[in-house]
Amino acid sequence: MKILGIESSCDECAAALVENGKTILSSVVATQIPFHAVYKGVVPEIASRIHTEWIAKVVQESLAKADLGMEDIDGLAVVNRPGLIGSLLVGLNFAKAFSWARGLPYIAVDHMLAHLYAARLVEELEYPYLGLLVSGGHSIICLVKDFDTIDVLGASIDDAVGEAFDKVAKHYGFGYPGGLVIDKLAEKGDSEVFTFSMPNLYKGDHRYDLSYSGLKNAVCNHLEKYRTKEGPASAENIAASFRRTAIDILLRAVMRAVEDTGIKTLVAGGGVAANSLLRRRLAENPDLKVVFPPLELCGDNAAMVAALGYHYLARGERSPLDEVASARVTRFRRQLAR
Ligand code: KG4
Ligand code: ZN
Repeated sequence: MKILGIESSCDECAAALVENGKTILSSVVATQIPFHAVYKGVVPEIASRIHTEWIAKVVQESLAKADLGMEDIDGLAVVNRPGLIGSLLVGLNFAKAFSWARGLPYIAVDHMLAHLYAARLVEELEYPYLGLLVSGGHSIICLVKDFDTIDVLGASIDDAVGEAFDKVAKHYGFGYPGGLVIDKLAEKGDSEVFTFSMPNLYKGDHRYDLSYSGLKNAVCNHLEKYRTKEGPASAENIAASFRRTAIDILLRAVMRAVEDTGIKTLVAGGGVAANSLLRRRLAENPDLKVVFPPLELCGDNAAMVAALGYHYLARGERSPLDEVASARVTRFRRQLAR
């Protein structure tokens, strides 16, 4: 079964062809980064307009790269949540029109479940395992029971971790997109120069929850204090100190979930899963099997969408032509590990 995947939830316009949820035949990601970089962040209106211009060409290119025609496609999968509503609507409506015109089934899927699925494109994994979903809009620690079933153990109560990277980079003018720029700067900096306090959230229902607005504000607002007291406020040192704390916050909650559940496999997904410190620090745990998607499958792409969508379509699920888009992530079951 060859599935055409479509992703347009934010600033990447992507299409991919994936066979049987496993084999990537082509994956095209057209990034809008240069169009948003001048504004130091994604401008929703610009994003949706560019998606409208690019979507058909991106789909054509993915067909050409796979050496396939429209008649070879067995179904479509498209992200309809969460994301920028205008951008989501471009991909969703394109998929609807394509499916209607060709008489093909289509399924709308959750972007975060697709990020979680990305690792399965490169590694065979048995359920259940723990999931770490870290992107620009969401930070979720979850118990993964199946391709469509997760229990949320914890999530950010305010900013997502990627958002904190982006906002710190924007504040200091480090460049765009923030996560990648800070990661690169941090490699050359001293992470011990500035010390930021960790959120104190770990009681009761908040045992695996995360918080980034305090760290973001401390890094952005209190630098003068740190500059005089603790050392040179170079871009590299700010980046390294911020990154260390941002990753420590994630690791503390993740390792607590590992201990409480006794589950020794952790699968990461989302743009922040590309972070080099996160990858190194998690690899330091000999008892934990950590699976990261390759870098090209960490950020937004349509291969993860096609692969996840295959499973819904294979069991006969179809989305209706009046399917809606939503800015919000699916309301997954929230469950503490103990
Ligand atoms: O999954 P993604 O491509 O888009 C969303 O679904 O949001 O994630 C984008 C986020 C951005 O916040 C970006 O700054 C962050 O991922 N990011 C990184 C790195 N590469 C991208 N954050 C930290 N380190 C990186 N190397
Ligand atoms: Zn994403």
